[in-house]
Amino acid sequence: MKLKSILVVYGSLLLSAVLYAAHPVAAYNGLPKTHPFLPFSLEVYQNVQGELPTETNSLFAGSGVCAQCHAKQVDANGKSISIVNDWRSTMMANAARDPFWRAKVSHEGLVNPDHKAELENVCTRCHAPTGNENAHYNGQELYSVAEMVQDPLALDGVQCTVCHQIPENSLGNFSGTFLIGTRKTIWGPYPNPVANPMINNTGYTPVYSKHIEDSRICASCHTLLTNSVDNEGSPTGNQFVEQSIYQEWENSDYPAQNQNCQDCHMPATNDPVVISSRPNNLAPRSPFNKHHFQGANVFMGKILKDHAAELGLNATEVQFDSTLARNMRSLQQKALDLELSIVKRSSDTLFVDVRLHNKSGHKLPGGYPSRRMFVELTVSDNNNQILFQSGAFDSTGRILQEDSTFEPHHNLIDSAGQVQIFELVMGDVNHRVTTVLERANYALKDNRIPPDGFKTTHFAYDTVPIVGKAAADTDFNKEAGNEGSGADVVHYHIPLSGNTDDLTVEAKVWYQTVSPKWLEHMFSYSSEEIDRFKSYYNTADKTPVLMGQKEAKSAYTGIRNPEKTSLQVFPNPTRGKINIQSPTVLLSVNVFNAAGWMVKTVPVSESARTVRFNLPEAPGVYFIKVKTAEGERIQKVIKY
Ligand code: HEC
Ligand code: HEC
Ligand code: HEC
Ligand code: HEC
Ligand code: HEC
Repeated sequence: MKLKSILVVYGSLLLSAVLYAAHPVAAYNGLPKTHPFLPFSLEVYQNVQGELPTETNSLFAGSGVCAQCHAKQVDANGKSISIVNDWRSTMMANAARDPFWRAKVSHEGLVNPDHKAELENVCTRCHAPTGNENAHYNGQELYSVAEMVQDPLALDGVQCTVCHQIPENSLGNFSGTFLIGTRKTIWGPYPNPVANPMINNTGYTPVYSKHIEDSRICASCHTLLTNSVDNEGSPTGNQFVEQSIYQEWENSDYPAQNQNCQDCHMPATNDPVVISSRPNNLAPRSPFNKHHFQGANVFMGKILKDHAAELGLNATEVQFDSTLARNMRSLQQKALDLELSIVKRSSDTLFVDVRLHNKSGHKLPGGYPSRRMFVELTVSDNNNQILFQSGAFDSTGRILQEDSTFEPHHNLIDSAGQVQIFELVMGDVNHRVTTVLERANYALKDNRIPPDGFKTTHFAYDTVPIVGKAAADTDFNKEAGNEGSGADVVHYHIPLSGNTDDLTVEAKVWYQTVSPKWLEHMFSYSSEEIDRFKSYYNTADKTPVLMGQKEAKSAYTGIRNPEKTSLQVFPNPTRGKINIQSPTVLLSVNVFNAAGWMVKTVPVSESARTVRFNLPEAPGVYFIKVKTAEGERIQKVIKY
């Protein structure tokens, strides 16, 4: 039983998981009633453009307050590693203004208008925590988007005084149910901070506490269980695990290696860094963790950058570009090892393996359920004509072969109608695919590649199961029967129908933040927020991000144009030496191994009819392809 074991393991969840639809609307606290189309306007988006907020409320202070002293950090080479400026262009800094998020909150409210108030209260908990937490602290029951857009501090997103005020006894609270200290204590990683300048200027006291380096700080928001409703909007009593990055990480080799979320997402430098620009005689600290928070959201990052003025975002183009570059690097260099191998070739089939190994600290792709990763495999002939293709997509990012419901996981792909897509697919109470978060009741498919060391026997497995055909795939997270490879091997059996060309095989792996299919349901509704996001989406570059690419050649090793010449290749079998004698001029001589890889090109002098050379060291079967003025011949030889 999924629910039960989560509760046993994470005992605090039940108490705290007051999520979607669990409450009657009655307790709405006399706030202005909102109508189904949220009434905020562009003006409100724009009200803090360009500058960081310096507002404060009972619990929090705007990032502009902290920017007075924490915006000018440099490394040993004088390069900026500004805490505030690195943070301000990240998705977290923009979590409350993110137009995709705004549209989705509106969509969820339109689908279940009776829950609109609770939904907004839930959605703002992690995306606009300074507004939401403060409202609850002051006795308010529900916090709304209408309030949020009027409050520059709430629009500050996931900011300094949120993460740094989560106390140690909050660790292990998930789904946005984290606590916030009420004594204006700012926890940090360094012992004995020089506290007075900060106290005097902000009223907040910096205090050392190791718990800030704990992965559970991040899990406060990055683990999200939702209370499901059926398609009429009634609670099903079921909880759905929408995001579980922390439990995936927990079920990996990384905790034992002390590799926390912070180690990957806030990369450290050992340079001595002065962490505050005031007072001016401060001793440097080390190591220093950069507030990069890079992830994978290149797509939305670009939308933010392109519409920054309209959305009232305060990061500059240069700052957005550095976050985008980090996200690109994270996707292209830190996430995936890709291998492509040609296993063998028979007269009618090419056997190809594509191995994808996850290098991240959790499932790949990680996070929000719209993320996916897919493999494009193309085989082309001598004339660059495509013989086979799986995973092609159009200019809107739609994968051509995808099944209309959802594409199952494949261990073997033997027709161009199949494609490997790594994703979480949410199902509603009737086991139909849904993209309405509140209706998500079951995972219909979860073949996102697990991290290294992931085991089905781990205590967190119930929260993060492999779902669908991947669970029975013997090389999904398994190697030689052992779990935890953190990899999947996709086998392709490509029909050749007698083709005798030398073939080129290319594998590409693509990352997609959100597919057109995923947005269909939302875009069938209309509201100011949905329409705005739709217009941004329609004009955005929807090409997925290329995460990796590999190419291999397969030579034809059969008899192609049997020539009636007396071309001789000898001795065979051989200890290594090969002689070729040809009645006509030799053009080229190439040697391939049994797997079809070219292992040697033999130099042939102009107008020569004979050549002598050595085979590679390893004994075994080789194929020698001899091209002459009259045609070509492939001779199998055995080296002993
Ligand atoms: C998403 C959570 C989060 C946010 C938002 C955040 N921080 Fe941090 N910050 C951390 C964590 C975690 C560490 C400790 C990293 C470690 O030591 O592993 C840290 C470290 C620091 C440090 C110590 C120096 C360093 O970078 O290692 C300072 C100073 C600091 N933060 C200030 C700020 C300010 C100012 C802001 C707002 C612009 C901010 N933080 C926003 C999580 C956050
Ligand atoms: C007037 C300057 C000033 C302002 C404004 C300021 N700080 Fe600091 N902050 C400091 C100084 C000084 C230190 C201690 C530096 C040291 O000891 O190396 C510090 C230390 C920290 C630390 C590290 C504490 C530790 O022990 O590791 C964090 C985190 C931090 N500040 C966060 C914030 C946040 C969040 C804000 C905004 C609410 C803020 N600061 C505003 C001056 C300031
Ligand atoms: C208060 C809630 C909260 C906390 C605490 C928090 N996050 Fe986040 N995080 C979010 C939200 C909300 C988003 C999504 C914002 C969006 O896309 O609209 C996010 C997004 C991210 C992303 C995606 C960035 C991208 O470009 O793809 C990364 C990476 C991330 N957080 C890392 C961390 C790490 C590391 C920590 C702990 C040090 C942490 N978060 C703590 C709420 C939080
Ligand atoms: C070993 C390094 C590593 C560790 C540890 C790690 N991550 Fe990641 N994370 C990555 C990489 C690489 C990516 C990009 C690939 C992807 O999207 O999965 C990523 C992606 C993400 C994303 C998805 C961004 C998006 O756009 O959807 C989030 C959120 C995130 N990480 C949060 C966390 C949290 C929270 C933890 C700790 C529980 C953590 N990560 C631990 C390397 C790591
Ligand atoms: C427990 C904290 C939490 C709550 C509550 C929450 N979210 Fe999020 N949300 C996140 C985090 C963390 C991410 C980033 C994950 C990632 O990037 O992979 C995110 C990402 C998103 C995204 C993707 C944004 C992008 O730019 O790609 C959307 C859309 C979204 N949330 C909608 C909602 C809606 C709608 C609600 C309310 C029904 C909600 N969220 C409630 C934590 C939360």
